[in-house]
Parts: sequence; structure tokens; C-alpha cells
Amino acid sequence: MRSFLRLSLTTVVALAARNLPAQGPQLLSQSLEWAVPNQGESPRQRIRFDDDWKFFRGDAPDAGDSLQYRQLRPYVTALSGTELINVCDAPRTAPAGNPGGNVSFVQTNFDDHAWQAVTLPHDWAISGPFSMDLPGETGKLPWQGAGWYRKGFDLPASDSGLQIALDIDGAMSYSSIWLNGHYLGGWPYGFTSYRVDLTPHLNFGGHNVLAIRLENPVESSRWYPGAGIYRDVWLVKSARTHLKHWGVFVTTPVVTDDNATVQADVSVVNETNVAAPLELSVSIHDLTTDGKIATGSTAISAPIHFTLDPSKGRETERSFSLTLPHPQRWSLANRHRYAAITTLTQAGKVIDEEATYFGVRTIAFTADQGFLLNGAHVPLQGVCLHHDEGALGAAVSRRALQRQLEILQAMGCNAIRTSHNPPSPELLDLCDQMGLLVMDEAFDCWQIGKKEADLHASDVLDRYHDYARIFGDWYEKDLRALVRRDRNHPSVVLWSIGNEVREQERNDGWRVAAHLTGIVHEEDRTRPTVSAFNHPNSGYDGFQTAVDVVGFNYSPKEYPHFRKLNPNIPVLGSETASAISSRGEYFFPVDFKNKLSGRADFQVNSYDLCAPPWAYPPDVEFRGLDEAPFAAGEFVWTGFDYIGEPTPYNSDSTNLLNFTDPAAQAKEAEELKSLGKIKVPSRSSYFGIVDLAGFPKDRYYIYQARWRPELPMVHILPHWNWPERIGQVTPVHVYSSGDEVELFLNGQSLGRQKRAPLTYRFQWNDVIYKPGELKAVAYRHGQRWAETTVRTSGAPTQVRLTPDRAQIIADGRDLCFVTVAIADAMDEMVPRTHNLVTFQLEGPGEIVGIDNGDATSFEPFQASQRKVFNGLALVIIRTQAGQPGKITLHAKSEGLRDATTTITAE
Ligand code: GAL
Repeated sequence: MRSFLRLSLTTVVALAARNLPAQGPQLLSQSLEWAVPNQGESPRQRIRFDDDWKFFRGDAPDAGDSLQYRQLRPYVTALSGTELINVCDAPRTAPAGNPGGNVSFVQTNFDDHAWQAVTLPHDWAISGPFSMDLPGETGKLPWQGAGWYRKGFDLPASDSGLQIALDIDGAMSYSSIWLNGHYLGGWPYGFTSYRVDLTPHLNFGGHNVLAIRLENPVESSRWYPGAGIYRDVWLVKSARTHLKHWGVFVTTPVVTDDNATVQADVSVVNETNVAAPLELSVSIHDLTTDGKIATGSTAISAPIHFTLDPSKGRETERSFSLTLPHPQRWSLANRHRYAAITTLTQAGKVIDEEATYFGVRTIAFTADQGFLLNGAHVPLQGVCLHHDEGALGAAVSRRALQRQLEILQAMGCNAIRTSHNPPSPELLDLCDQMGLLVMDEAFDCWQIGKKEADLHASDVLDRYHDYARIFGDWYEKDLRALVRRDRNHPSVVLWSIGNEVREQERNDGWRVAAHLTGIVHEEDRTRPTVSAFNHPNSGYDGFQTAVDVVGFNYSPKEYPHFRKLNPNIPVLGSETASAISSRGEYFFPVDFKNKLSGRADFQVNSYDLCAPPWAYPPDVEFRGLDEAPFAAGEFVWTGFDYIGEPTPYNSDSTNLLNFTDPAAQAKEAEELKSLGKIKVPSRSSYFGIVDLAGFPKDRYYIYQARWRPELPMVHILPHWNWPERIGQVTPVHVYSSGDEVELFLNGQSLGRQKRAPLTYRFQWNDVIYKPGELKAVAYRHGQRWAETTVRTSGAPTQVRLTPDRAQIIADGRDLCFVTVAIADAMDEMVPRTHNLVTFQLEGPGEIVGIDNGDATSFEPFQASQRKVFNGLALVIIRTQAGQPGKITLHAKSEGLRDATTTITAE
């Protein structure tokens, strides 16, 4: 690093609005393409480039080690992302030569007909198989190693005057790209969106072949990273004099009820060799709720005229200031957005035009009152999310993400932390549309890798390949790419520069933080930076001054202390709770002391008392925040279960080390021996509030009770099917938004409890089990508020299918999520069932994923049968493009009544 920028940090970061792309619900599965009103005139086209790819798992036999990152590094660092460099010393000239140019797989005439035909987004590892010998930390799936993609396409001769680029939203990882046998560059960090210019090596009026090699090094991730081109790819055509990639930045520096000042900073590039006299203008339009640009502008700029002469520099920036009358503010409830249409004209002809979606809103992180949106306090009720979508793996599906967000929003969640990496563009687009706030995160480590402490330096270089390996060459490019891509989204309110970085252990670690904060501020002055600290010292040793907002991971006790010593720095819980549980699993006696009470079947008790040593149940954070009302809120670890990191069964030999009590350990050893299990089978996390299949665990309701105080609700745990426990103590816990709850067993009151100050659950810990009916009646301010009943179910008699939507779009992308339940004659789900269910589909759709939320299951995600886990399973159906019709799912399970459900693809 050449220099460390130290920009003055304000403690109250008062910020004005921001913004961007999004779409209406009816465009659900369509692209994020800009709507371009003058499309007939401007040559700009953004074409989805996801179809007709060929895939090969493995490496080119004649490549040797010539395509390893260490060989390609001098080329890729000089060829890719150099426009994102401002402060680093980065090479800008690649050595002579065409690396990989002789390798068979990149040749235009290579015969790839035997390769697998795939449509992007594609995750090559999610189909498995799971293997005991692969690390549980990354999901026991085969994501490591190399894979290749090829695609042939024709270009009309009429395109020959255009600039043609390939936009890759994300490819996991270390991508290298060849066009017609010429190496063009690539990108190591699998989470960054990037562009390569295809123009110099294209055959206009002829055939072209793209070849993309990816490689996932071992030990490069702490969770399941996915594998392959797992996000969308676009072919972007524009005039050679055009609006710059991510080159329109819209801010609203002044917002009042009467007017908003909209500032648009626009960069234009001239890739020709001729000076171009240009006219640039911006107009502002309402976006309708279904994501369409309203005709008729609400504000329009005067045009700016200038000549862009490439002999003096290829690029220029121009700023516009427009007055938007009576702005509608973007908020969590009213997600109103606008489009800024930027038009570039040459000699009276529109040569480029883009729409940038944005919202008008103000944000402020304050040390006294937490977070303010449009001047009003909004507590951050957030969750951390990894990027996988359960059975669909990392392959991005807009509908799968939307479903995750819907489930979380129904719980009262209002914020997402994209732990620990840049998210897909779809996620941010959905957050804009749905009214969720985002902590947009760049890195899980900086110069020091996450595992280095345990090893000697020499081992580190050979074994571990996390981001630290490439930080020096790529951090500036990755960070600027993140901010430039995402800075128009109204949902984004924080830039997280790092999670639990080990630079905290060093006296001068703050310098890196200050440097990264400086880079972010160069790209966006309107939002603060944050970093997630796991070393409480970082709140006091100077590190805290190198970010705008301090995030503490798992340290609610720190908030008051921090405030005393840093009265001007805003603070929040960047990672909280990390409670663990398996949906529908309850163990007795309930161990109120041992946070790690687990079992040799590798499940975790669902009484919501379990957590790894550094963590704690949700209640502890609630209390911490209630005692620190100045803190901005929390991001719970995690909203959904994710593939990998199956703490407390993260170790791949046995789980015995997880049991601190020697007697428990001995018992588990016996049980393991009798089960013949010497290795841990767990392949997905237990941290989720919602399981991997999308079914809420009990914990969901403790959050709902707090986060949606106006929703009358009450939830009982456990289920009431314990034939072996008749006469035994079986604790009952209740979560409610009421302030009093009375519990009844078979009509008999077990007592009415008032919520005690700073407690968040109602507990009846000495209930003696008898079958029947448990009823909880909640009160608020003495009035009846909500009521729920849990019954001992009858024997299972039937399979039940419940689709999440009856009508979906026949576009080859939209999904229907069908819940499969084993039910009794009264139609109620029967807990503790593990029946095998087989599925058959008729009509224009396919089953693309299947799951049950069991973190230990090695059953494949792509299959036509599944055991339910504690009563439930999930089938994910995808439509076929351009094939409307009825799709019927049949489900059978031995000894039970079959089920059928029909949905319509339109
Ligand atoms: C944190 C870490 C997360 C996850 C979590 C599990 O320390 O930042 O990535 O590992 O622990 O509790």
C-alpha cells in the first residue's frame, strides 16, 4: 500500500439519500436490465447471457500448472480492474504473451459436445455427492478444484462499431477468461462483480467462443462458497463513446418536504480516437410500484455540452443538480423510488442512455439515538445472511432470495448484513423493493488470514488460501467495485470493511481500517463505514476511530462501557446471539447450565438455550440492547441456516470435544461407538433462526415477539408428543408479544405469569407431561391479546402438500416452494416423523431442489425422494421458459394417503 488516507471522521454521520435499480413484482424473474426509453435510438443493450453454456468439471489435461493463479498473477493484475485503482501500486502493463493460449479448452475449434449443457447461474458442487471425507466447515460438498465453462455465440457485422463487454455478477473463483483463444483477464475474489472488454478480440459478423476457467483452492473459505458461474452473466453493447460502467452516482444532498436536491455525477468514456462533441442531460422520473418508469419527468436538467478528446484523456465527469418537487421518501413502509435517466447525445443522435434507480431518504447513525431514517429512530432488527439458498446452493435465484426475505420480514426483521462478502445484485434490488436496510460487507479478512495463528508461516502459504493471499493486489479493486456497484441502492446504509479481522491483534491494525475507510469515502461520502470487532480492545485502542460506526460481535456488555469512553461514536451489535438449535429436536432433562448440550445424533436442543462458548441465547442480547438504548440495534447470527460451519459439530473427527462434561463425553463415546459413527456427518449450520429448508425454528418466535410488538402472537415449545415421558418433568417455554401469559394443560391452568423486567420468555419448567392439549393465552395491558394451542397429534395418516404460490411465471427461473408435511387424520403435522416421501412431477416444470432442514442429512439436494425431518420437507419446482401450463406434484409415502397439488405457470 502506498499511502493511508485518513479522512476526518464525523461521529454523527448525517447522510442524504441514495438509491437504484429495482423491479416490480410482476417482473420477478426477469433481469435487472435498465429500462431504456430511447432504446430504438441508443445502441446500448444489456443481454442476459446465461443460456447455452457447456461445463466441464476438472482441468484441461494439457494445462499442467500453467493456469494456476501464481502463474497468471502478473497478467490478471495488470489486465483486470485497473480502472478501480487510485491509491495502490498496481501493475498496469501485463508481460508479453497470451497465457493459456495453447491450452486445448480455449481453442475455438475444441470439441466440447461431450461437456454438460448448463444454464447459468450454476453451482457445480450443490449436486454433491456429500462426502464424509470433505470438510464439514464447507458443507462436505465437492466445491474445491477446477471447472471450465464454454459458450459459442455469433455477432452481427453491424455491431462492429460498438463496444462489447461481458459483465459477470459473480464467479467462484479465480476466474480466467479467454475469447477466441485470447486471454482477457479474470477475477480472483468470487464475490465481486466485474467486467471484461471483449471488443479487441471479437469476430464481428462471425462466430466467437468464450472459455472461462475457475478454480477454488482448498482451505479458502470458512463456509460453503459454492462453485462455478453462480450469478448472472450479461453481454453489454454500447457505443464506443458511452456512459462509464457504474459511472452514474445519484445522491440527494438536501431533502425537505417541498424539494429534494438530486445530484447526479456522471462519467463518460470515449474509446474512439476521435474527439467527440457531446451533450449530456439527466431527467428524473417516478418509478411505479411495479417497477416501471413513469412517462413524463418530474425534473429535467439543462443539457451540458462538452468535447471529449481522447488525446487529452478518455474520461470525464460532469455533475448535475436537479430540484425534485415534493419528493416521496423511501422508507421501510413506502419503498418509493425514482429513475434518473442519463442521456448522451452526439450530433443530435442519442448514443447512450441509462436509467439509474434511486430513493430519496436521509440516514444518520448517531451515538445517542442509534439509527435514524428520514429523521425517525429505527432500531436495527437485523440478521446476518450467508449467500447460499439451501438446496439450490449458491446459484442465485431471485425468487429464492425473495422468499428468504419474506420469511424474515414476517418475523419483524428490517435489516440484512451480507456476511461476509459482497452480495448478489438481486439481493440489494429486493431489499430496495421490500424495504429492508443493508449492511453491505466487503471482507472476512485483510492481510492476515483467519487461520494463520495456528500455524507456522511456511505452512500457511501452502495450506491456506483465504482472501489474505490476494489482499495486497486486490483489496482496492474489490472494495471500489463493491461501493461503485451498490452506492445507488436506498437500502444500503452501511459499508462494512471487514469482519473480525485479525489486524485487531496488532498495534497498527487501525491503519488498514483507516485506509479502507478512506477508499470507501472516496467512492461514497453519504454512508458510514463499520467493522465487526471481536476483540473488545478494538473499541478502546484507537481502532474504533478508524471506522465511522463500531460493530461489536457477541459483546452486549461492552455497549455501556464503550459509550462511556467513546461518547461520540455510534455503536451496534454486528453479530449477536449465535444461538444454535435443530428444528423440532428437544432433549431431556433440559440442561439450563450447559450451553452446549448436544447429542451423538448431532442435533442441538431447541429450547433455545444452546450456543457455542463465545455466544449466548437471544434473550441476552435483548437485555444488552434494552440496557443500552443508544445502540443502533443488532444483526443476529444468522437469519437462515447455511451450508457449512456446523458448530458445535464443526470438527471433522468426532464431536466429543464439544462436550465439556466428562460424564456426557463418556456417554456420547458409547453412543457413537454403538452407532458406528466415528466422524461427524454435519454439513450445514445450526445457527439459523430459520432452518436450511426455510422452516422457522422456535427461535423465530422469540424474535417476532420482540420485533413485531403490535402483532398479537404467542408461541409454545416443545411439541406435545412425548408418549415415553408420561409423568416426567417436561418444561414448557412460551414467546409472546403480550405482557402476561396463562398456560393450560388439558384445560387446567398451570399459572398466569407476568413478564418480568428484562426477560423475554415465559417459562413453566416443572410441567409434568401428560398427552392432550397445551394452550397459552396471552394478555396485554390486562386484555386478551393472542392464543395458541399445541396438541398431542394422532398417528400419521397422510402426506400434505402446501405450495407457497398457486401461480408462477413460466420463464425458466421462477420457483414454487412446496411444503411437505406428514399429518394425522385431523390434518395436523405429526412431529418426530421421518417418513420417506417420493415425488413425481407432471407438466412444464422440474424439481430443482429438495430438503428437510436436517443438518446431518447426506441425502442429495437434487432427487425425487426425501425423508421428512420432524414432520416436514421441502420440494422446489422451477418453471420452463416459455412453457405455460399446469404443473402437478404427486407425493407418496408408504402406509400413508398420497397427496397431489397443482400450480399454474403463466
Ligand atoms: C463469528 C464469525 C462468523 C461465524 C460465527 C459463528 O465469530 O464472525 O462468521 O463464524 O462466529 O458463531
